[in-house]
Amino acid sequence: MSAKIISGTEVAKAIREELTAEVAELKAKHNVVPGLVTILVGEDPASQSYVAAKNKTAHALGIHSEQVTLPADTSETDLLALVDKFNKDPKINGILVQLPLPKHINETKVLYAIDPEKDVDGFHPVNVGKMVLGEQCYLPCTPHGILELLKRSGVKTSGAEVVVIGRSNIVGKPIANLMLQKREAGDATITLCHTRTRDLAAHTRRADIIIAAVGVPKMVTADMVKDGVVVIDVGVNRIGMSESGKAILAGDVDFDAVKEKASFITPVPGGVGPMTITMLMKNTVQAAKQAAGLI
Ligand code: GUN
Repeated sequence: MSAKIISGTEVAKAIREELTAEVAELKAKHNVVPGLVTILVGEDPASQSYVAAKNKTAHALGIHSEQVTLPADTSETDLLALVDKFNKDPKINGILVQLPLPKHINETKVLYAIDPEKDVDGFHPVNVGKMVLGEQCYLPCTPHGILELLKRSGVKTSGAEVVVIGRSNIVGKPIANLMLQKREAGDATITLCHTRTRDLAAHTRRADIIIAAVGVPKMVTADMVKDGVVVIDVGVNRIGMSESGKAILAGDVDFDAVKEKASFITPVPGGVGPMTITMLMKNTVQAAKQAAGLI
């Protein structure tokens, strides 16, 4: 058997078309233009490319986007002052501070400083708390994108054994939380594995769905999965450079071997990545509608 490839690129394109129409309607009917600011501190090449992609997508959808790039030695005080400025800026509905931040800046303090109403990343504790309680909030973009991929691919999650690998605040913890809830793409039985898990393969081998978010290239191998498994690969690992200077990427899953056993699998690139950016746009549009009193 060879797996059906879940194309995040295609699903993202469909959602972006819906959003483009929604943004045009907001402008025509209510004179509302959603606004997003991205803030990047330092020169990490991966972060630079993510932020550029976020701004490009916003622009393509008709969302007003601003990009602030600060030197790596920017002080925490200056960054907090900038966040505060955008908290008060009515043109801006969503504030995204790209992570990771340089070591001398307290990431938690910066994320807490973002107005929860403008926290389109869904990282502020108010939004995290609401998410855990199943209340209306901004869902974090990557987990939100994974739910959409599962839904739109028709993967049955109710009662499924889901093994999440990785316990980050950005992916592992929230996706585990969301998929155990009584919701679409939820109602699953969750096992959350991490670096201290004793026998990872024993868990992955009984999984109906594996979500890999570890940051180790090709770590999930074919002998670790059962026939018919659904694999969502969140990893974006740079494993080299092409002759033209483009990064060569690999996921956390050994795609070529695992796709022979899986029923569904996401590729890298073109799987979860495009969905993360698209859900950020969805959250920004939601933020603009909320700010305008439309929802
Ligand atoms: N770094 C890696 N993923 C993300 C994300 O989803 N949001 C932000 N702000 N930083 C990230």
